[in-house]
Amino acid sequence: MNLFDVYSLFDVTPVKGRGCTIWDAEGNQYLDLYGGHAVISIGHAHPVYVRALTEQLSRIGFYSNSVRNPLQEELSHRLGEACGMPDYSLFLVNSGAEANENALKLASFHTGKDRIVAFRHSFHGRTSGAVAVTDNPAIVSPFNAAHKVTFVEMNDAAAVEAELAKGDVAGVIIEGIQGVGGIIVPEDAFLRELSALTRKYGVVLIMDEVQSGYGRTGKFFAHQWAGIEPDLVTVAKGMGNGFPIGGVLISPQFKAVKGMLGTTFGGNYLAMAAALAVLDVITQEHLLEHVGEVGDYLLTHLPSHPAISQVRGRGLMLGIEFSREVAPIRSKLLYDKHIFTGVAGKNMIRLLAPLVLKKEEAAQFISALEDVLSEI
Ligand SMILES: Cc1ncc(COP(=O)(O)O)c(C=O)c1O
Repeated sequence: MNLFDVYSLFDVTPVKGRGCTIWDAEGNQYLDLYGGHAVISIGHAHPVYVRALTEQLSRIGFYSNSVRNPLQEELSHRLGEACGMPDYSLFLVNSGAEANENALKLASFHTGKDRIVAFRHSFHGRTSGAVAVTDNPAIVSPFNAAHKVTFVEMNDAAAVEAELAKGDVAGVIIEGIQGVGGIIVPEDAFLRELSALTRKYGVVLIMDEVQSGYGRTGKFFAHQWAGIEPDLVTVAKGMGNGFPIGGVLISPQFKAVKGMLGTTFGGNYLAMAAALAVLDVITQEHLLEHVGEVGDYLLTHLPSHPAISQVRGRGLMLGIEFSREVAPIRSKLLYDKHIFTGVAGKNMIRLLAPLVLKKEEAAQFISALEDVLSEI
């Protein structure tokens, strides 16, 4: 059997990682500014994480959600404290798309309605419900296109209100910062208006913090820059530092009914051990403050070059937009300078480094980018 060939691959095969460094089998060393697509939060093979998972595996790795799991209770309590949302509840799943599927379902259960408002250039996952609110024709099938979803422009409060006023909308879903769509940061004032509008019309506000959450922007959640309190917040990626996990944070007005949501693997012991270790390290190493500092350093020291048209983002979720295609620049960064970077569209380099990125590592990238740009 062959692998189903759907991924474009870097021509480097990592076999080992520590912090923001990865090595291939020949011992070549690479700086990771991609974080396995915003997943590696506390760094590769962090000793606290390795110990937590290893010890948990030697005790018990899995049992179903038909038994009480004290680690789930500990995680919901600790996460509520860490993100400043202690009165929310947590529903645990395995991925970002699954978190969004469940959030959409909750919005629909809660309101008895089925239309969703989403934003242009959004990305919320690849399963059918999540794909229906994803503005990317390449991955929307005709079946999904039939879902009741209306896309509006980012930062257009009047357009949102025109939809909500129709009275049939269950929820509005929005990313803390649009990642795949090209590091598009919603204006803080718009998020506050959006929050007020969803309250006014009794519509559920779903913040997708799958990529922008867990400290990536220097606050626990990106929407906290605007000071709003969404009804539902979805998380995944950095939550498990590579162990598959996701969750929906649910505000107190939602009523849990037995059986309304469920999953086989969500909340398993290993995922809980991983997520608790991530929270330990975020707190012990003051990673939110660190991300603010190293993110500012990157933003202020990135080279200015005629080919760079704009730099956008917050903390360690940064997009460097070029007036040309970035594939050759990324190739040089990877193969000549040994630096992994991400991409958004054809013209943007997306930086999603582990939150533990050191200033010296940021400086290494800046100097490598300067070198590469001097050759184009
Ligand atoms: C904002 C956002 N939501 C949802 C997802 C989907 O997450 P997953 O791939 O874990 O299903 C992603 C993945 O990139 C994402 O960036």
